[in-house]
Amino acid sequence: MPAVPATLDPVRARNPLFGANRLKLGLFGTNGKGAAQTLVPEAYRPSWEASLQTARMADALGFEAVLAYARWKGYIPGETRHPSGVTLDPFTWCAGIAQATRRLAVIATSHAPTLHPITAAKQCATIDIISGGRFALNVVGGWNKPELDMFGAPMAEHDARYDHLQEWLEIIQRLWREEAEFDHEGPFFRIKRGSSMPKPLQQPGPPIVNAGGSDRGQRFACEFADVCFLILRSEDTADIAAQIAAYKDMARREYGRDVQVWTYAYCVQRASRAEAEEYLHHYSVLHEDGPSLDAWIAGVGSQTRIFASPEATRAARQRFAAGAGGSALIGTAGDIAARLEQLSEAGLDGVLLTWVDFVDGLGRFAEVMPMLEARGLREAFSPTA
Ligand SMILES: Cc1cc2nc3c(=O)[nH]c(=O)nc-3n(C[C@H](O)[C@H](O)[C@H](O)COP(=O)(O)O)c2cc1C
Repeated sequence: MPAVPATLDPVRARNPLFGANRLKLGLFGTNGKGAAQTLVPEAYRPSWEASLQTARMADALGFEAVLAYARWKGYIPGETRHPSGVTLDPFTWCAGIAQATRRLAVIATSHAPTLHPITAAKQCATIDIISGGRFALNVVGGWNKPELDMFGAPMAEHDARYDHLQEWLEIIQRLWREEAEFDHEGPFFRIKRGSSMPKPLQQPGPPIVNAGGSDRGQRFACEFADVCFLILRSEDTADIAAQIAAYKDMARREYGRDVQVWTYAYCVQRASRAEAEEYLHHYSVLHEDGPSLDAWIAGVGSQTRIFASPEATRAARQRFAAGAGGSALIGTAGDIAARLEQLSEAGLDGVLLTWVDFVDGLGRFAEVMPMLEARGLREAFSPTA
């Protein structure tokens, strides 16, 4: 059963994030360059046409979500035109995508220091109304110090970022729920007679998504998120099951909550496994974007607790190049369906997918969808229903 809060309101219950499919699917990062760090010419670039085309393809396949990430600056200092820094604003992007799609949830990402919570609450409510209750908010502590420094708010120490994020989110959620004006005095925000109208359609508010990976991040996700995004530390199914169970158990035991656990994965689908491996090697090793990868690894390594040691970070270089450290879905349509079933059996509720070339990848992935239905991971879907 999907993790749905017992008191789900009827609008929220229709959000595809709470739908019946055992393994939910989404797109990751099509408001930016996706997740690959590669120099191959077919690599995705976030034009509005490409954003619309990929979101509509995912919607027509029955995907549950598209997640727009928040990126304010690229990874390489001074290289303002580098693809890692060319990102469409997640909120306005989600509003546009909501209008162009029928079913999928639109998820916008925000850090706490980049957007005042009163502004964020209203933007979220507005997109929730535009989308007919299909919005969700991904709240992140962030890791890219130069981008947060641009806001004149030097990036806080790692765990303090989550304290900031918590206060920011609590204000937003009060603005979504409460009719009466309220005052708020905290270490990060001072609000006088705060209120926000109209309210979001979903009550008590749109679902919250978070990707906290550290001890503090896990605690935050278990306490506040409906969907926890994990960066899987291993490709071993037993390890993955343990990593997922740690979140679900903590959420239940310590906060009395049921959470979904999702991850993200890069997909290379070809007619044979050898062909898929060859293309993976081509784009993520022979044509890796070296300077970008070096800068990204340095930033993520110093500002997050994603990887246990510098050695683990270095060992994961190809995964970073292939899909920002996500999991690998490599091979034929059948291989990919089988791996997704293993992940589902390990307790995973959803996967955000990325490709080097999303249009090509989504076209091929159409072959995987009926296989997921046949394996009982997803219900039969018709785009015209
Ligand atoms: C699916 C997913 C989406 C993320 N989106 C963003 C983002 O849009 N912007 C950002 O700065 N960080 C993003 N992150 C990184 C998180 O902010 C965070 O740094 C990371 O998950 C490590 O967690 P930790 O700080 O608890 O170690 C994302 C991570 C994942 C797994």
